Amino acid sequence: MPEEKKNAPPEATELNRRAFFAKLGLGSLSIAAAGTVAFGYQFLSPNVLFEPSPVVNAGKPESYPLDSVTLDVNSGIYIIHSKEGFFSLSAVCTHLGCLTAWKPDLGIIACPCHGSKFKEDGEKIEGPAPRPLPWKRVWLSEDGDLMVDRSTDIRPMQFVRV
Ligand code: FES
Repeated sequence: MPEEKKNAPPEATELNRRAFFAKLGLGSLSIAAAGTVAFGYQFLSPNVLFEPSPVVNAGKPESYPLDSVTLDVNSGIYIIHSKEGFFSLSAVCTHLGCLTAWKPDLGIIACPCHGSKFKEDGEKIEGPAPRPLPWKRVWLSEDGDLMVDRSTDIRPMQFVRV
């Protein structure tokens, strides 16, 4: 121990210890107060989920050849150009929600998870899926693009003719 500290009066050492604990206490209170403010702000601010729009711009009708079934993986929909016109199906299997796939060689939509199969118009052929693939609302924008509302199911056989 250095010579100076050894000879320091006991009050000075006590004072340093008091000052140290006072600063420690203030620091702890500051951290607790900051935590309370942060928690309070998080508690009072609204819990809003910013989800992408359910409306998909599928592009120009000319980009879909006649008798084609096109899967948009990002949107989870099929754009189908049939002789009757355009329509869109959900590509999400009605069993447990797997993404289905178009099998051009078989002319069916198949689910890789449990083997459900659907016709091109969404009607179920076989498998555990309880319902057909739902049709989605389709319309033409003012710019002539095909628009699909993934959040709106419609009755089947409502085609958009271009
Ligand atoms: S999720 Fe498609 S058949 Fe089960």
